[in-house]
Amino acid sequence: MNIRLARVDDMMGMQATNLQNLPENYVMKFWMYHAMTWPQISFVAEDHKGRIVGYVLAKMCEESQESGEEVHGHVNSISVLRSYRRLGLAKKLMLLSQEAMASVYKASFVSLHVRQSNKAAIGLYRDTLGFEVAQVEKKYYGDGEDALSMRLSLKNS
Ligand code: ACO
Repeated sequence: MNIRLARVDDMMGMQATNLQNLPENYVMKFWMYHAMTWPQISFVAEDHKGRIVGYVLAKMCEESQESGEEVHGHVNSISVLRSYRRLGLAKKLMLLSQEAMASVYKASFVSLHVRQSNKAAIGLYRDTLGFEVAQVEKKYYGDGEDALSMRLSLKNS
């Protein structure tokens, strides 16, 4: 398995992986916008034939005086095809993205939303990577499920 930076020509493969894995799906313009605006922080895992089996899609959020928030990264979406799970791919994808957010953009933290029922992803974020729950966002998802808004400080990375 090879893990590398995502390129614009990976976006179709990333979108296909996303469609198989998650109910939160995005139009191609959204994928392209991320790849072209923040080309250093999204990564893919590919098999020996170059097929995308996992990805992390991330963006940067500017400093905001209104909310008082510092520059930070945000993970929009991460997923790994079912037959490639529990191999450590998601952990590696997240760590690469986090390192790039800190080194390229001087991000002070990384944020994400996750369904409160998503045990696998919460295990990855909280137990493996050290994220903490910042708040619960009620009815965040289209079907009415609450989201955990999670954060990890990047200040010592
Ligand atoms: N149950 C409990 N803990 C889990 C599970 C699980 N099924 N899967 C992973 N973890 C935790 C464990 O702590 C694991 O460490 P361990 O294997 O040493 O015990 C750790 O996460 C790292 O696991 P990885 O092998 O790196 O994770 P994987 O490559 O399997 O991908 C992912 C995890 C991305 C959550 C995968 O299950 C998936 O694609 N799920 C469907 C899509 C999804 O839910 N994506 C996240 C939505 S939220 C968002 O995108 C911001």
